[in-house]
Amino acid sequence: MSGDVLITEDVNKTFDAVTAANDVSVSVPRGAIWSLIGSNGAGKTTFVNMVTGYVKPDTGRILFENADITSRSPREITRLGIRRSFQIPQLCAELSVLENMLVAQSLNAAEPPSFWRQARSQSDVDRAMATLEKFKIVDNSDRLMGEISAGVRKLLDIAMAIAGNPKVMLLDEPTSGVAAEEKFPIMDLVMEVLTASDVTILFVEHDMDIVTRYSQRVLAFYDGRIVANDAPDEVLADEVVQRYVTGTAR
Ligand SMILES: Nc1ncnc2c1ncn2[C@@H]1O[C@H](COP(=O)(O)OP(=O)(O)OP(=O)(O)O)[C@@H](O)[C@H]1O
Ligand SMILES: [Mg+2]
Repeated sequence: MSGDVLITEDVNKTFDAVTAANDVSVSVPRGAIWSLIGSNGAGKTTFVNMVTGYVKPDTGRILFENADITSRSPREITRLGIRRSFQIPQLCAELSVLENMLVAQSLNAAEPPSFWRQARSQSDVDRAMATLEKFKIVDNSDRLMGEISAGVRKLLDIAMAIAGNPKVMLLDEPTSGVAAEEKFPIMDLVMEVLTASDVTILFVEHDMDIVTRYSQRVLAFYDGRIVANDAPDEVLADEVVQRYVTGTAR
């Protein structure tokens, strides 16, 4: 038995002529906080999509807690305990912040809402409000999606993902589209909430200050391949990474 919570073994994926994953092999220990970096189109979201079942690899295996999940559906994978947030938050525009949270909770419930179990009993509302409180967005609970900032939308999307007490969380660009001064406060908050609930965290990030501050280890993607897998300082000093990933080569 491996102690690693998530393993990918030689995973490959092509879309027509594009190689989005090329022999991607990683082993993520339980409790890790790792980041995924790479230029546009490098394969970061494809990695997240494959681990969460939205995209099926052409070859290779994905293991979660030593069980093969390669051919499982997104819904099954979610139920096993792997959750994600999206590069563009997936929120329902017609619903308020609280209502979006209630929907996420009901989708995560062991028994879906039904005739005899309402989705919005007082205890459901209390639980949703408590989660919004943790993410410091409870003041926005009555607002619609068009009335909240990009930062609040990002936090809500992550709050919705954590509603089912995941074991692994994949965050696809948690700070993209967010005002520069909001980035660190948002990451501080997300890390505080997630680490308190013992979740293994993989986050996709373009901002190297955030990568350095929050991740223990970095996976650098280029052309669907992982070209570096090491501590942030090592990865950012790597010649290949500087040339193809961060563009900082002299
Ligand atoms: N469903 C799809 N159909 C066709 N091509 C796809 C699909 N998903 C991804 N690709 C292609 O695979 C490559 C990797 O895409 P991916 O979205 O994983 O990149 P990324 O690293 O997340 O980039 P970004 O930083 O822009 O989000 C790109 O060339 C992309 O166009
Ligand atoms: Mg992406």
